[in-house]
Amino acid sequence: MSDMENRVKEMAAHSFGTWNRQKNWQAPLLIDDAEGVYFTDSNGKRYIDFSSQLMCSNLGHKNKAIIEAIQKQAEKLPYVAPVFTTEVAVEAIEALRSIMPAGLDKFFFSTSGTEANDGALVMTRQSKAPAFKVISRYHSYHGATSAGMAFTGDPRRWPVEKVRYTVDGVCFAPDCYCYRCPFGQTYPECKVQCARYLDYMIKEEGNVAAIIVEPVVGTNGRLVPPPEYFPMLRKICDENDVLLIADEVMTGWYRTGTPFAMQNWDVLPDIMTTAKGCTSAYTPLGITATTKDVADFFEDEFFCHGHTYAYHALSLSAVKPAVQEYNKLIGSGLPQRVSKYLKEKLFELADKHPCVGDVRGLGHFYALEIVKNRETREPFDVKADKLSGKALMTAKISGDAMKNGLYVVPWYDTLTIAPPLIITEAEVDAALAILDKALEIGDQDAAKTDVPASRSTEF
Ligand SMILES: Cc1ncc(COP(=O)(O)O)c(C=O)c1O
Repeated sequence: MSDMENRVKEMAAHSFGTWNRQKNWQAPLLIDDAEGVYFTDSNGKRYIDFSSQLMCSNLGHKNKAIIEAIQKQAEKLPYVAPVFTTEVAVEAIEALRSIMPAGLDKFFFSTSGTEANDGALVMTRQSKAPAFKVISRYHSYHGATSAGMAFTGDPRRWPVEKVRYTVDGVCFAPDCYCYRCPFGQTYPECKVQCARYLDYMIKEEGNVAAIIVEPVVGTNGRLVPPPEYFPMLRKICDENDVLLIADEVMTGWYRTGTPFAMQNWDVLPDIMTTAKGCTSAYTPLGITATTKDVADFFEDEFFCHGHTYAYHALSLSAVKPAVQEYNKLIGSGLPQRVSKYLKEKLFELADKHPCVGDVRGLGHFYALEIVKNRETREPFDVKADKLSGKALMTAKISGDAMKNGLYVVPWYDTLTIAPPLIITEAEVDAALAILDKALEIGDQDAAKTDVPASRSTEF
């Protein structure tokens, strides 16, 4: 064992691995370098980054303009207390106002997506009191702090909900999940029952202050709603005097084609949270953006929130160059062209592999849902398997892909196709060739049927 391998083992023994049994955190892969859509390990092996790390490196790796801006700020003024301001804060807010949906123009800055949701909770509960309940959905992830985890439907909430995540008043609504409709219905005959049920839920619950949604559900499935869903939800929220919070931590920053995913349906939330792509992950930053109506409440009320690292200058220094780089990239037409190509190629790939039950998504944000039987839609693994220690089929597939130079994030039943927006057609081809081979692992245990893969978001 080399000296560095020993030091990695030592490091792992003295640190907690995230979201894992600690015995699985023994020898994490040492990453040495990253450039464009690739990253390289310490043995010089190169991987295609087909999930933008954690769906956040939207502009790819080693973006010169962003790195230079951060370097400049590190030398000039990395931090001042949030009672002061800096030139980079001024520039970040100017840049954000040029790209955010019109109407969302007051911001609070923290350092992560989950903290952005904490900020949304404070704004909601202070401004809507005495109403306090928040409706979330089962297929959701909103972060790991008290608010983020309390809003989270995915199984990571289960072991800890009585440990420290004590935000009360959170209720979970059925999902907008057309491939496995919780109401057993089919679109369009369903008349979007999942949206209509939210009206029923608000009225029956009482004291509902807000609904929080991922516009396209991220980690938990890349669930794209039918076109009527969000316009209906907006109307339901208005009629019931409930705030609509869009968690665009993962879906923001052109991940779904538009700058922010809610713009696909022309719906303005009252509060929007975002992080990840806002700096393309070059610095940690969370943003809570609100309408004037929400913001105005705090003109005479004490805004009961803040962090030592709120408005951190080094974090903010990446915003303006990131916005400029997004504008340049979209101006080139590359992401628009490649997203069409990616979709076509994923449909072709899915049809070839009996283990792919559904292929769905938007822009550069797709899921392949892996099933045992396309006809019955029987899954290999369910939510609870994620925590049980069982070897999941998606993990076996992504593990094989990794061996062959492709990084693709698995969840319990889906693979996350979310490459950087700078990816080219040739790089998509190279990635899909590796995935094509890896999917054979699922095919071996999947039923052979004549039923094609579903395309549940082709409404
Ligand atoms: C939709 C959504 N909200 C919130 C979060 C939490 O963000 P962070 O991990 O930066 O706290 C995530 C993280 O993946 C997310 O996908």
